[in-house]
Amino acid sequence: MIQVKDIKKRFGGVEAIKGSHFVIPEKSITALIGPNGAGKTTLFDIITGFITPDQGNIFFEGHDITKKHPFEIANMGVSRTFQQVRLFKYLTLLEHLRMVEDNEDIKIIRNLWKREKVDRRQYEDILEKFGIERDLDALASELSYGQRKLLDLAMAVRKPHKILLLDEPVAGVNAVVQERIEDLLLKMKEEGETILLIDHDMRFVRKLADYVIALDAGVVLVEGTPEKVLADKRVLEAYLGE
Ligand SMILES: Nc1ncnc2c1ncn2[C@@H]1O[C@H](COP(=O)(O)OP(=O)(O)OP(=O)(O)O)[C@@H](O)[C@H]1O
Ligand SMILES: [Mg+2]
Repeated sequence: MIQVKDIKKRFGGVEAIKGSHFVIPEKSITALIGPNGAGKTTLFDIITGFITPDQGNIFFEGHDITKKHPFEIANMGVSRTFQQVRLFKYLTLLEHLRMVEDNEDIKIIRNLWKREKVDRRQYEDILEKFGIERDLDALASELSYGQRKLLDLAMAVRKPHKILLLDEPVAGVNAVVQERIEDLLLKMKEEGETILLIDHDMRFVRKLADYVIALDAGVVLVEGTPEKVLADKRVLEAYLGE
């Protein structure tokens, strides 16, 4: 579904990605792991068009999307969350959820400002499903760090998409909600979703991932089943050397 081909990216003196090459399989959960600074978020930013690589290409369903803008890639069906969540402080939870219901800009604005009757029940169910125990009319600025991550996740899932990219979806979220998110992601996979996620929690990765890609210092160290990758000496050393 997504093919990352010979990607290189340098930030000044830092060679963040040194020729990464892999394919994200469809209808499964792939985990991208690696120590801090390995280049995981940078790869997400390159796939979603926020950063242009110095070399290499990204293909989505056979189309070269390397030079496309983030909004174009999102509209093609690549939906993502952010490690540093970006929300609108003075918009409510309901407004955030309505904003992502369409891929066309004009509809996004219309959805946001439409004052006709909204079926609040439907949105309350979403908040419940994602473990956000707040009122629909609460402002995003009132949310805790964990709750903001969950709202960002709910928005990424609600946005029409073909693949979901989740950057540390359960970091900073309490254990009960974390388990709920795990179940939710597993159910989504059963329903045929394709998910690429970044996480440091090996228990989480082992439980969810069908395929694991381990990155260290901008290169893919090893990839394969969780059993194989998580037992690999090079992966253990990369984490220990952190
Ligand atoms: N905009 C930038 N400018 C300069 N250096 C950057 C920039 N973005 C990332 N880097 C550097 O590139 C490397 C990879 O960073 P990246 O954020 O992709 O790592 P990561 O694997 O997501 O780490 P973490 O697990 O801590 O989130 C790091 O050395 C980082 O400091
Ligand atoms: Mg990161």
